[in-house]
Amino acid sequence: MKTEERTFVAIKPDGVKRGLIGKIITRFEDKGFKIVGMKLLQVTPELAAKHYEEHQGKPFYNRLIYYITSSPIVAMVIEGYNAVESVRHIVGATNPLNADVGTIRADFAQIMEYNVIHASDSVQSAEREIGIYFKPEEIYDNWQSMQEIIAYDEERYNQQGL
Ligand SMILES: Nc1ncnc2c1ncn2[C@@H]1O[C@H](COP(=O)(O)OP(=O)(O)OP(=O)(O)O)[C@@H](O)[C@H]1O
Ligand SMILES: [Mg+2]
Repeated sequence: MKTEERTFVAIKPDGVKRGLIGKIITRFEDKGFKIVGMKLLQVTPELAAKHYEEHQGKPFYNRLIYYITSSPIVAMVIEGYNAVESVRHIVGATNPLNADVGTIRADFAQIMEYNVIHASDSVQSAEREIGIYFKPEEIYDNWQSMQEIIAYDEERYNQQGL
């Protein structure tokens, strides 16, 4: 079943420092997803703790917080059919060694600690994470993608016999 969903994606500090912002965004645009929120921001330790609260107490937690706060990230809200699962599929497994070739983590990352990108793992996580990083007024969905415009125009032309 196809469900329209929103998911939260972040190009992590290593992706930003390595100049991969454009290449990563291209993957999602090429897929046909609609980007309805996007900003460059510095993650504070407080924000990082909220985002990664499920990992508190794990052996890698302190390094994870250090890493995610080490430079700005690019935060995005991405909309599309089955967006949560589909984006995770494009992102690839947590450990780039296990990620399928063609995924972002397989193609751009070598180790789990620097795996370039974050994506929500469920619709519930997506809602929570979008709420952490975006105010409602920072999400812009009141516009049509080119695909939507073409489909709409086509219908109108057909109706008018054009
Ligand atoms: N065993 C580990 N050792 C070191 N770092 C880890 C380990 N497990 C996870 N991490 C780091 O913590 C992040 C969050 O882990 P999580 O289990 O949520 O994986 P993920 O959902 O694939 O990644 P993310 O939440 O960043 O999209 C990972 O992306 C990775 O950077
Ligand atoms: Mg995760």
